[in-house]
Amino acid sequence: MPEKLTRVSLTIPEDILNELDKILEEQDYASRSEAIRDALRDFLSEYHWREELQGQQEGTIVLVYNHEIRGLTDRLLDIQHETRDIIKSIQHLHVSEEECLETIIVNGSGEKIRELVDKLKSLKGVKQVKLATVGR
Ligand code: NI
Repeated sequence: MPEKLTRVSLTIPEDILNELDKILEEQDYASRSEAIRDALRDFLSEYHWREELQGQQEGTIVLVYNHEIRGLTDRLLDIQHETRDIIKSIQHLHVSEEECLETIIVNGSGEKIRELVDKLKSLKGVKQVKLATVGR
């Protein structure tokens, strides 16, 4: 049975769209829609993987953000203090004038790590949040 498709409209920053179009050309994608469907499937599968994290986990969160977004660094600091029980260390790299990269080493329950990642992902100005874990 064919998938039922629904049309939606989105607003996307121009630089992301330009980059997407460039990749589409290189990779022979049939359409933007097809690429965005693939990206959404990845997003959902990563979300479900995180949802299922259980037990004691050790891992790294890699975070990329724009420190010029108003209030973001204060919010990040607050979150990191609130979750200091699972944060073992943080490394900060100033990537460019406005971009920062942090690696956060975590050790704690899957649930707490998931809550932290979900919180970071939802912040405006945060461009990337990647989690890798080793369960025990
Ligand atoms: Ni920085």
